Amino acid sequence: MTEPKEMSTAASGEMTDLRLIELADRAREASYSPYSCFSVGAALLCADGRVYTGANIEVSSYTPTICAERVAIFKAVNDGVRDFTAIAISGGPHGDVTYSCSPCGVCRQVMAEFCSPDFRIILKTEDGCAAYTLADLLPLAFGKGDLKK
Ligand code: THU
Repeated sequence: MTEPKEMSTAASGEMTDLRLIELADRAREASYSPYSCFSVGAALLCADGRVYTGANIEVSSYTPTICAERVAIFKAVNDGVRDFTAIAISGGPHGDVTYSCSPCGVCRQVMAEFCSPDFRIILKTEDGCAAYTLADLLPLAFGKGDLKK
């Protein structure tokens, strides 16, 4: 089996937040978003340095639409990867490369399923990027711990 083309490694040096944003920018090009005209790309950094990317995919009946972040996370989980460090998000109206896109609530919950509270979420800003933790963006999270007897 060949290595998925979306997967890259940090072999050329330590991954920086800005480099991860660049990978999210590139991932955004694969967005299929003819209904909202809002394209999103995500780049998920794994603990071993691998990066999984995703883009949002829309469906005309709307409900099956999936966000870029979940595409990246589910691709990694499906490959057996469970240890994640950070995710960078690049999204906005088609053609707007400066927009700062924050993850939706559903994606935050999926992050809480697979990532620790200190997992870093990197968003675009006017002059570069800013990092938040999952705990910042999903306080008082419901999680798997709540279902343990
Ligand atoms: N979307 C994402 O992919 N990620 C986000 O963080 C916010 C929203 C997508 C879903 C839908 O295809 C479009 O953006 C508009 O909501």
